[in-house]
Amino acid sequence: MKEIQADTYSIYLGEEVLHEFNSILEDFQDEYSNFFIFCDENSSKYCLPRLIGLVPMLIGAELIEVESGEQSKSLSICYDVWKTISESQADRKSIVINLGGGVVCDMGGFIASLYKRGLRFFHIPTTLLSQVDASVGGKLGVDFEGHKNQIGLYKNPDMVLIDPKFLQTLPKRHFLSGCAEVFKHALIADVEYWDLITQLDLDNIPNIEDILFRSISIKNKIVQVDWEEKGLRKILNFGHTIGHAIESQSLKNNRVLFHGEAIAMGMAVETLLSKLRGFLSEVECIHILDKLEAAFTLEKIDRFEFSDLLKWMQQDKKNTDGHINFTLLSSIGKAEINVSCLPDEIEDALHKYNFFLS
Ligand SMILES: NC(=O)c1ccc[n+]([C@@H]2O[C@H](COP(=O)([O-])OP(=O)(O)OC[C@H]3O[C@@H](n4cnc5c(N)ncnc54)[C@H](O)[C@@H]3O)[C@@H](O)[C@H]2O)c1
Ligand SMILES: [Zn+2]
Repeated sequence: MKEIQADTYSIYLGEEVLHEFNSILEDFQDEYSNFFIFCDENSSKYCLPRLIGLVPMLIGAELIEVESGEQSKSLSICYDVWKTISESQADRKSIVINLGGGVVCDMGGFIASLYKRGLRFFHIPTTLLSQVDASVGGKLGVDFEGHKNQIGLYKNPDMVLIDPKFLQTLPKRHFLSGCAEVFKHALIADVEYWDLITQLDLDNIPNIEDILFRSISIKNKIVQVDWEEKGLRKILNFGHTIGHAIESQSLKNNRVLFHGEAIAMGMAVETLLSKLRGFLSEVECIHILDKLEAAFTLEKIDRFEFSDLLKWMQQDKKNTDGHINFTLLSSIGKAEINVSCLPDEIEDALHKYNFFLS
């Protein structure tokens, strides 16, 4: 088992983590009253049996299950969950265990943090995306009026337990969605890592634990320097200014792209924007686009939707003074933050993206 030390908590990684978790709970029985396991219909079906099987201390925990998918990440579902835990008389010594993907971790942490001014919570992420990204760094929240993560806060979990075995039941499309964040980590921080992952067969990664470790370490290092995203942490937003707009637009139209799918498209457009703004060389731009296209399903973007996308971007919480702010690449493994771009430049990049795919 590997341990990665974050600010105020530890991230444990390996197939033995749940067994160890049971011992921890046995040793600290005085520290808690009861457990709530927050999950969605799939993590309940595919992951809960393994959790309870390996952690008998959780037998008797109260299960709270929501429907799977981004649509659940809403205040109205939070309200229902608060009602349930209130009826079950959760107290300040109750612990919430978030067992699921990024939706469950973001929302479960949010619910726990606000209830009675804060219950302790653990993340047990079960998708690739949540293992390498969403469970690390303390960003919690829900979507609001179509805008991603609009209501939320920063609060760290008390522990993160990452068991790679959970990935065995994850559908391939969701696995690939998580790979988008892995690609992002490499693009913003580590050219050697980029060379490694772009040579992998993503259908069959031989040593997934190493990938988890490298990606978590990159993210953890960044958020330790700048937890509240005043500076450096913004590099993690590469691909996300356009990606979040694509994701919001897709949710609105019920076409439902997964988060990583939208981010892969966002990274491709923002790579072109990096080139257009003179940060990135033509050679590296084409190389990145080729690798993204080989790994992910990049959909063309209807030009009649460009103005809607710009509207989503204009309301992005990363903006200041009415400018649309980006994190762009200056080379593979290196990013520039706070680059404000004009609508015309963004549209130009969107056109070039469609042209690249044609
Ligand atoms: N907080 C952060 O820093 C951060 C970072 C990146 C992404 N996010 C958020 O994470 C969310 C996306 O996360 P996600 O991709 O994990 O989506 P998700 O939580 O919707 O999970 C994807 C799907 O996999 C299912 N599932 C989960 N574990 C499974 C398993 N082991 N086997 C089979 N099915 C399983 C889920 O039920 C769901 O249908 C987005 O809301 C995004 O905004 C947050
Ligand atoms: Zn993301």
